[in-house]
Amino acid sequence: MGKQRLQLGVLGSGSGTNCEAILQACERGELPTEVVIVISDVADAPILERARRRGIRAECIGPSRFKTKLEPELEERVAQWLRDAGVELVALAGYMRVVKTPLLRAFAGRILNIHPSLLPAFPGLHSWEQALNYGAKVAGCTVHFVNEGVDAGPIVLQEAVPVRENDTPATLHQRIQEVEHRLYPAAIRLFAEDRLKIEGPRVRISKS
Ligand code: GAR
Repeated sequence: MGKQRLQLGVLGSGSGTNCEAILQACERGELPTEVVIVISDVADAPILERARRRGIRAECIGPSRFKTKLEPELEERVAQWLRDAGVELVALAGYMRVVKTPLLRAFAGRILNIHPSLLPAFPGLHSWEQALNYGAKVAGCTVHFVNEGVDAGPIVLQEAVPVRENDTPATLHQRIQEVEHRLYPAAIRLFAEDRLKIEGPRVRISKS
């Protein structure tokens, strides 16, 4: 019997196009992974529907007193759902809260995030708009391991997206997302193939 595929849990707050790209890459057999649970902090987030219509477990985190983080007991519940589902890697896909100790401790070195800028430039919200407002000539996206910072942690992959003269926030974000949908599955594949090694601030990628 072949090795079981890496069990993936996805957390997101919104549309879930990155989750969709990961799900489709799994379905096409391009990733040695399987999404076993999708969790959202927003009850009607489309990302949950993407999971449900495939028969994948979808969970919604109950209401939180905070906007940018979860109460420790709520985050502990998320960690428990992920553990119960047998998750080996957590992928944050548009999850708009800062991850705190319960989750970081439960999945140390096993949480990835995608961010729509070339970190460390423009962390936080609407990074593509930040890049436009700053007058940057190059935007992009980053997949990184998650630490206690905001959009911070050792970088796995980055790709640049040139800013065009006539870009609006919407057109720039759309081109960044097209790259995200390729870059995130590629980073997850590297993790699943055990080719990523965190050395201090750096991620070393071994050859296949
Ligand atoms: C993506 O562009 C992702 O990089 C960004 O939210 C969007 C979610 O889109 N994440 C962050 O800004 C994290 N700080 P999606 O729900 O369609 O995948």
